[in-house]
Amino acid sequence: MTETLAQRRVLLVIGGGIAAYKALDLIRRLRERGASVCPVLTAGAQEFVTPLAAAALAGERAHTDLFDRASEAEIGHIKLARQADAVVVAPATANLMARMAGGHAADLATTVLLATTLPILIAPAMNVQMWAHPATRRNRAVLEGDGVRIVGPNAGRMAEPESGPGRMAEPNEIADALERMLGQQAGERPLAGRRVLVTSGPTHEPIDPVRYIANRSSGRQGHAIAAAAAAAGATVTLVSGPVALPDPPGVAVVRVETARQMLEAVEAALPADIAVFAAAVADWRPEQEAGSKKIKKDGTGPAPMPLVENPDILATIARLPMGRPPLVVGFAAETDTVVEHARAKIARKGCDLIVANDVSAEGGVMGGADNTVHLIRRDGAVETWPRLGKDEVARRLVAHVAGLLAG
Ligand code: CTP
Repeated sequence: MTETLAQRRVLLVIGGGIAAYKALDLIRRLRERGASVCPVLTAGAQEFVTPLAAAALAGERAHTDLFDRASEAEIGHIKLARQADAVVVAPATANLMARMAGGHAADLATTVLLATTLPILIAPAMNVQMWAHPATRRNRAVLEGDGVRIVGPNAGRMAEPESGPGRMAEPNEIADALERMLGQQAGERPLAGRRVLVTSGPTHEPIDPVRYIANRSSGRQGHAIAAAAAAAGATVTLVSGPVALPDPPGVAVVRVETARQMLEAVEAALPADIAVFAAAVADWRPEQEAGSKKIKKDGTGPAPMPLVENPDILATIARLPMGRPPLVVGFAAETDTVVEHARAKIARKGCDLIVANDVSAEGGVMGGADNTVHLIRRDGAVETWPRLGKDEVARRLVAHVAGLLAG
């Protein structure tokens, strides 16, 4: 299965070799196929081609410095590492391959390569002996083990008099390999190139330094959804309240305590293609901010504690006038008339889909390993799943939303 590059965004890391001039042609070929290209040049690359030439061909600025104040303020290298569908390294010099294999992050290119969870394709280019050297062979094996795809090098005449494998693959070959890689990703990983935001766990609303108001939640379902989305190829941010769970692999986790912190973290994590609100947000918080001193009992009984309502994170995001994720999924924890309550909730909160579960004591869902859920769409259609493990609910939900997003 191959995938077209139309509407795809490619982060192109240009390494420092004579083949860098061909990277400029690669920018052109990728754009001809409908992709947008964000060039990143190593210091070595700039000995062969200028950032200006790359920028002119890409039609956008080329990035060069890790500590570029303007660019850090605008996007930052971590965002650079996320806001694309794939990373292409061309030419991948022996030095760049070694630095990638070693996990170095001393400049912008290697930092982006280390920070990214996107699929990576490299087009090696180097002298025949360097390609054949055991060190390069080792680095290549390490990179392949890390899931990096390799196109070329081709045999043929190079800048030096020797001939043999070492010459960078032609720009059209690289673009073809990229299409194949994205095609495979799309098949195996239906959320490849998508950004997913998940909230999970409870929130704690402090009364004083030792007491708080909270909803019951282990975070198991939300964490399982984040893990399943990452396994489906998505770039995932998990905003989690206090839980006793390990971070899911391959997921960026932002830890918060209160509902207001959770809302802030969610807003900071946008844009997203899919947002899943699985957190059990405390509905109220004490009106008075918690002080640094523990409230002491004075024998006259508890002092009145006025509460105020917390922001509704799901409703806030589902009703964003701009930047609303195309697919907003809410949860509904109900103890009775589950489906009816969930239908009302979908209308009230403005989300596209609600995953409703029965959290009455008989179900044992709270903190348990299983879940029986109903999927309720905005048009009222209901799908009921059998009792399943929370990991399986997560996998099915991810497959379901990937299908909805693909249209
Ligand atoms: N939610 C949220 N922010 C809140 C309250 C709830 O984002 N302040 C989200 C939850 O993450 C969940 C959905 O809204 O996806 C529904 O949560 P639930 O507790 O079932 O509903 P409530 O809004 O609390 O409504 P009620 O208490 O009336 O059932």
